[in-house]
Amino acid sequence: MSSSSPDERTLVLIKPDAVRRGLVGEIMSRFERKGLRIDAMVSRTMDAALADEHYAEHVDKAFYPPLKAFMTGGPLVALVLSGDEVIDVVRGLIGSTDGRKAAAGTIRGDLSLSNRENLVHASDSVDSAKREIALWFPELV
Ligand code: CMP
Repeated sequence: MSSSSPDERTLVLIKPDAVRRGLVGEIMSRFERKGLRIDAMVSRTMDAALADEHYAEHVDKAFYPPLKAFMTGGPLVALVLSGDEVIDVVRGLIGSTDGRKAAAGTIRGDLSLSNRENLVHASDSVDSAKREIALWFPELV
């Protein structure tokens, strides 16, 4: 028996722009080919209350109203991914926030030209992963 702790988990949202553009398979395949596990997955449309909770740290920012409209404007795919250092690994795969500046080879760098419609959200720390997984998949907690 191994005594190592279970792999880390992260919450990923494949955003409404990715669903609308038919990029769900492309994005999922990058995570799968990296060797990450899909622990949970659901297609869902975010409502206003969930948007305010999920983006609690951004609700007072100027970019929040259009971000909220975008994120609640159509179905998205929510995932829990797991694997070794998955939080940092996924953030590396998706690239920096602004798709115009994200490095080539990353999901945003290859596929997005926007800092709002940037295809994917991923938890940025162990604490935010715990909080976001509890919001989207309370049955896993
Ligand atoms: P995400 O990783 O989901 O976290 C917050 C989101 O807000 C971000 O991706 C973008 O979609 C959006 N965002 C962040 N900064 C800006 C900005 N300056 N203008 C517009 N949208 C932004």
